[in-house]
Amino acid sequence: MSKITAAITCVGGYVPETKLTNSDLEKIVDTNDEWIRTRTGIEERRILREPGKGSSALAIPAVQELLRKKNLDPREIDCLICATVTPDMVFPATANIVCEAVGATNAWGFDLSAACSGFLYALTTGTMFIESGRYKKVIVVGVDKMSAIVDYTDRTTCVLFGDGAGAVLLEPSTDETGILDSILRSDGSGCKHLHMKAGGSVRPPSMETVANREHYAYQEGPAVFKFAVKGMADISAELLEKNNLTGDDIAWLVPHQANLRIIDATANRMGLAKEKVMINIQRYGNTTAATIPLCLWDWEKQLKKGDNIVLAAFGGGFTWGATWVKWSY
Ligand code: UT7
Repeated sequence: MSKITAAITCVGGYVPETKLTNSDLEKIVDTNDEWIRTRTGIEERRILREPGKGSSALAIPAVQELLRKKNLDPREIDCLICATVTPDMVFPATANIVCEAVGATNAWGFDLSAACSGFLYALTTGTMFIESGRYKKVIVVGVDKMSAIVDYTDRTTCVLFGDGAGAVLLEPSTDETGILDSILRSDGSGCKHLHMKAGGSVRPPSMETVANREHYAYQEGPAVFKFAVKGMADISAELLEKNNLTGDDIAWLVPHQANLRIIDATANRMGLAKEKVMINIQRYGNTTAATIPLCLWDWEKQLKKGDNIVLAAFGGGFTWGATWVKWSY
C-alpha cells in the first residue's frame, strides 16, 4: 500500500482593504520611503482598521474562501489549526472562534504560537494528523493582526508589519505529492531580541505596563537580522541536501517575508534564480504567520502538479524551519 501523504488541496486568503503606504508612515514617524524600500523592500501594508475586530476577522474570510473554492461542507472539517501571535483573546483559542463562524461544527482546533514560523509549525503538525490516517480534512491558518501590537511611535518596527491571513486545506494523498519533509528548529535564547514584554503571566497588564508601552512587539532589528539571514538560508540548504535536491529541482521558494535582503540571501544559498522566488513583501509587509500562505494564495494559479516547492521561515522565539512540498494540483 502506498504511503499516505498530506496534500495541500486548496488555498484561501484575505487581506483588509485599507492600505498603509510608506508615504502615510512618513507623516506618522521620522522615516522615508527610500529608507523603507532599500532596507526592507516594503512599499505598503494592509491594516484592519475596524474597531472591535481581531485576527478572527481576517482568518474567517480566508477559510470561507477556501471552503467556497473547494465546494466543501464545513461540517466535514476534522480539525483547524490557527497559527498566530495576535489571537483575538488570550483564551479561548482563535481557532474555536473561526470554527464557530464558518460552521465547522464537527471540528476541534487550537492555536499555535511560533511567531513568523507559525505557519510551518502548524503545517507540519497538520501533516502528521493526516499521515496518521485519523483525520481526512485539516485546515491550517496563518493569521496575524500585527497592527494590534505595533507601536506606531517606533519607526524601527512600525514600518515593517501588516495584517493578513492565509489558509490551506490538507487532505490525504497516495500519489506521492504533498508535504514530503520538514526541518523545524527553535532556540529560546533568541527571546531577548524579539518579544512582547507585558500581557503574559510574567508581567500581567497594569497601568505601569501600559504607560511603559510594553504591550507592543519589541525587536532588536540588527540582531534578529543576523540570525535570520543565517538561520533561513542554512535550514533551506540543509533540507535540499537531506533530500538529494539541488536548486535546479526547485520550482519555487516561498520565503517568510520579513526583509528582501534575508530572502535574497536564502535564494542565493539555494542557487535559485530570482524568478523562482515568491515575493509580495512590497504589498503586504511582514504579516508574521500569514506571509507564506499569502504567497501561496497569490501564486496559486501559477503552480503545477509535481512542482517542488520549499517553504522557509525565521522568526521570534527564535523559531525557524523549512518544508518541502510537492504541489498536488
Ligand atoms: O519576521 C520576524 C523576524 N524579523 C526579521 O527578520 C527582521 C530582521 N531585521 C531587519 O529586517 C532589519 O534589521 C531592519 C529592517 C529591522 C532594520 O534594518 P537595518 O539595516 O538593520 O537598520 P538598523 O536598525 O541598523 O538602522 C540603521 C539606521 C539607524 O540610524 P543610525 O544609527 O545609523 O543613525 C536607525 O536609527 O537607520 C535608522 N532607522 C531608520 N531610518 C529611517 C531605523 N529605522 C528607520 C526608519 N526610517 N524606519
